[in-house]
Amino acid sequence: VVPMTDGPSTLGFAEIRHGMAQRDAVAEGYEIQTVIRWGDAVVGEAPAFNPLAQTPAAQEVQFGYNNDFIDFRPLPQGSRNSDSGLLVVNHEYTDTQLMFAGIGAGRTGRMRATADQSRIELLAHGLSVVEIRKADGRWAVVPNSRYNRRITGETPMRVSGPAAGHDLLKTSADPTGTRVLGTLNNCAGGNTPWGTVITSEENFNQYFSGSAATTGAQAEAYRRYGIAAEGTYGWFRFMDRFDLNKEPNEPNRFGWNVEFDPYDPTATPVKRTAMGRFKHEGATHAISADGRVVFYQGDDERFDYVYKFVTARPWNPNDRAANRDLLDEGTLYVARFHDDGRVEWLPLVHGQGPLTAANGFASQAEVLINTRRAADLLQATPMDRPEDVEANPATGRVYVMLTNNSNRTAQQVNRANPRAANTHGHVVEIIPPGAGTNAADHAATEARWAIFLMAGKPGTDAGARYHRATTDAGWLSCPDNCAFDSKGRIWIATDGAPSAAGVADGIWAADTMGAGRALTKQFYRAPTGAEVCGPCFTPDDRTLFLAIQHPGDDAGSTFERPSTRWPDFAEGMPPRPAVIAIVKKDGGEIGS
Ligand code: FEO
Ligand code: CA
Ligand code: CA
Ligand code: CA
Repeated sequence: VVPMTDGPSTLGFAEIRHGMAQRDAVAEGYEIQTVIRWGDAVVGEAPAFNPLAQTPAAQEVQFGYNNDFIDFRPLPQGSRNSDSGLLVVNHEYTDTQLMFAGIGAGRTGRMRATADQSRIELLAHGLSVVEIRKADGRWAVVPNSRYNRRITGETPMRVSGPAAGHDLLKTSADPTGTRVLGTLNNCAGGNTPWGTVITSEENFNQYFSGSAATTGAQAEAYRRYGIAAEGTYGWFRFMDRFDLNKEPNEPNRFGWNVEFDPYDPTATPVKRTAMGRFKHEGATHAISADGRVVFYQGDDERFDYVYKFVTARPWNPNDRAANRDLLDEGTLYVARFHDDGRVEWLPLVHGQGPLTAANGFASQAEVLINTRRAADLLQATPMDRPEDVEANPATGRVYVMLTNNSNRTAQQVNRANPRAANTHGHVVEIIPPGAGTNAADHAATEARWAIFLMAGKPGTDAGARYHRATTDAGWLSCPDNCAFDSKGRIWIATDGAPSAAGVADGIWAADTMGAGRALTKQFYRAPTGAEVCGPCFTPDDRTLFLAIQHPGDDAGSTFERPSTRWPDFAEGMPPRPAVIAIVKKDGGEIGS
């Protein structure tokens, strides 16, 4: 344990050191509880998890793989209950080599998956909703709760907004272009003031294969989204819709934000096309001074962009149903970061500027289906992989996690992305007009920006910059997700520190304002191979939920010989992605 600094941080815990181990670790005085793991029952009488005899029928009712985004929705709806609620969790993707015996590493290994295994993987994608309760200081899932639900890669969904029904969304299974089966690669997400959840489709490209990727009519559009002749997964061998040569439009039905109501387990999830199509990390909201709702979004790719969606109308706090289709009308903007410290938000509106028929956009639907090309034409600022973009409710300032971009050259640097070969990433702050006054104008088309921190190890990695009192445990690498506690302190989760810096991923916390600004302190360290996702506080700040994703995903690590068997450490049991709850042993607030 590193001695507590005499620095000015308001955070009261003693840091843990950097490391890399089979087990995870948290600051002294805190306790780690496993809430739910891959294979645990979600719906009804799901069979006990047996990794050697897994079936599609079992997976369809069990907790999925690679948990990422977490939301805690209190029960009852509209309350701030911190001891009972719905845990909503994304299942981003699957690690075939750690799920099944006899697969082995890489794409070659993945192509060994059988038809049954491929369907298990599809059903291990999507989301889980489980009711959870805290009793005697311990969190547990409520079995058979009426709220418990699995949403998978096969769940029927509706498409709404300007692109619904467009020819480019029609397939042989869905000639209407409005009914899609499933959601894929749900990375982070967000929620709405009316209590629904948004889950964001990120690297959807990797599920599709086919020579049409390079030779077909949509080759150029595919290229911009990374859709290749040889995708990562072998599902196309068993399921025609993932074969580009058979269903060239199926990929256009992914890459969206999906809204659903976790309080209604029968509600059909809706793909909201007005919010754009790209590799969405997430979509977190802030309420603008005039009541319109603004959703900040990152497109997680090297040299891609930061977006925001502004609803056309204010939300209605008195009538939940009145907000039902609020996300179908509004304006999508993309950010240009000027070197003089201004952010300019550029509207992606058909007919405005270069977004015209002459440039290949026949309608707003086409602007949205090919959001990236529209943003290219608007000359948005190419960023270092935008992950979470999230407003601090205490200050109105918005934090952009830029995870890394090793491909940026010295010629490509700008003041908002100031480092060439940026292997450790950085955090940029966007300051909307009125920030700090309780009337921040998140809908404004101009804002200011500043650098909050430059990640990496000070003294070793060029350009690393934090508070000067940051300790040898306090530096971080590859910021990905973030959360804010009620005091406005930022909690940053990382993804990529093992390869970028040779240390485990984890959680770092810092003040955002005052004398301790950007004095990051290491709070939690992940087990080997894992990234940390979804940091989520209960409203009372007394529980911090974390999604521990892809534990054991190290080079050469397989089902037979994993690098860790976290969290069970039972012989023959593979590592299991799981959601953990961190509580303070004395019951106090996290970080107190
Ligand atoms: Fe799935 Fe952007 O991380
Ligand atoms: Ca991830
Ligand atoms: Ca992420
Ligand atoms: Ca990431």
